[in-house]
Amino acid sequence: MSSHPDIEVIAKNIIEKIRSLEHEVDCAVACVSGGVDSTTSAILAKKALGEKVYAVFINTGFMRLNEGRRVKEALKSLIDLEIHDYSEEFISKIENIGDAEDKRIAFREIFYTTVKLIAAEKRCSWIVQGTIKADVVETVGGVKTQHNVLSEKLLERYGFKVIEPLADLYKHEVRAIAKHLGLPNWIAHRQPFPGPGLLVRTVGKLYREKLELVRRLTDIVEEMLKDKGFSQYFPAVWEYNVIESRHENNLELDVYEVKVTGVIEGRRSYGHPIIVKKYPANISIYNLHKYFDTVNYPHILVNIGDKGKGEYVVAIRIVNTENFMVAEVPQVDLSELKSLAAKILADEPKVRLVAFDVTPKPPATIEYE
Ligand code: XMP
Repeated sequence: MSSHPDIEVIAKNIIEKIRSLEHEVDCAVACVSGGVDSTTSAILAKKALGEKVYAVFINTGFMRLNEGRRVKEALKSLIDLEIHDYSEEFISKIENIGDAEDKRIAFREIFYTTVKLIAAEKRCSWIVQGTIKADVVETVGGVKTQHNVLSEKLLERYGFKVIEPLADLYKHEVRAIAKHLGLPNWIAHRQPFPGPGLLVRTVGKLYREKLELVRRLTDIVEEMLKDKGFSQYFPAVWEYNVIESRHENNLELDVYEVKVTGVIEGRRSYGHPIIVKKYPANISIYNLHKYFDTVNYPHILVNIGDKGKGEYVVAIRIVNTENFMVAEVPQVDLSELKSLAAKILADEPKVRLVAFDVTPKPPATIEYE
C-alpha cells in the first residue's frame, strides 16, 4: 500500500484500539450513509471485529436519488451492506416541522430509535458511527445539533454503546485513511453529505413536494458541478415568500420569510436570507455580504435566474474548505451557473427563482439549517 506512513500507523492504531474491545462487544451495527466518514468507520470496525459488525444503510427518506443501491454496489468488494427502508417513518414524523433545530432534534430522535430497533433485532448493544472532530467541535460550541453527536445522557436513553473510530480526525485525514483502506475514489473523494441529509436543504417547513424537488435538483447540480474540485456543492429550496423589498447602497434586494443558520464567533445565528436582484457593476458579488448585518441576515445570495412565476426559490451553494469550520465561496463561471439556473427554471414549473449564495463561513454556515 502506498499511503503516507503516518496514515498507515493511524489506521493500524485505530483498528487495534477497536480490537481491544473485542471481549466486551457482543456485536455492533455500523451505520453507513455512503459518505466517507461513516463508510471508513464501518470498514475499520469490520477489520477489527470481523463477523461481529453488521454494516447497515438506513434509508431515512432524506437521502439522494437511489443512494442505497449505489452505495451497496460501490462497496460490494469491501463490505456487505444491508439496506433498511424507514423513509416513510422519518418523513411522516418530521412533516410540517419548520424550525431548523427542531427538525434536527426530531431527526436525531427517529434516527436513533430506528438504529436501536435494528440493533435489538440483531441483539447488538454497540453501534459504530462516523463522527469526526468537526462534528464534536460544532455541537459542543453550540453551533447546531449534529445528529450524530450524543451526550452521555442520550447514550443512556438509547441504551447502546458507541464506537467512533474517527472522532479525533479531520476530514482530509479521514479521506487519506479511506484511500489507504481501498475505498472507491467515488466515496473517498465524495463531498460531505450531512447526516440529516436533504432534510436540512428542504429549508423551513418540511413538505414532501419540496423534499422531492430538492432530491431531483441535487442530482442535476451534483452532475453538473462534479469534477470541478469544489469541496461542497448542492441546492437548497425554500418558499418564495418575500417579507421585505429594499433599495440600499445601490443594491436592490428581497428579504425572505424563511430562516437560515449562520455562525458568529463560534455561536449559531438564525436569520433571514437576502437575495440581491441588482448591484452596481463595480461591486464584486463575493463582497456583498460585507454590506449587511450578517447576524440577522446570515446568507446573502445573488439572483441568477427568475421566471416571474412559481412557488419556490432554489439556492445554489458552492464552497471550498479544508476543515469545514471556515469556508470560502470560490470564483465560479457565472455564465455556467446561469445556464444551470435556466435549465432548472425550464425543467421545474414550480421553481420561480434561482440564486447563488455568495457568503463565506463565517458568517454563514455551509448548510442552511
Ligand atoms: P455547517 O453547515 O455547519 O456544515 O457549516 C459544516 C459541514 O458539516 C456538514 N454537516 C453535517 N454533517 N451531520 C453531519 O454528519 C450533520 O448533522 C451535519 N450538519 C452539517 C456540512 O454538510 C458541512 O460539510
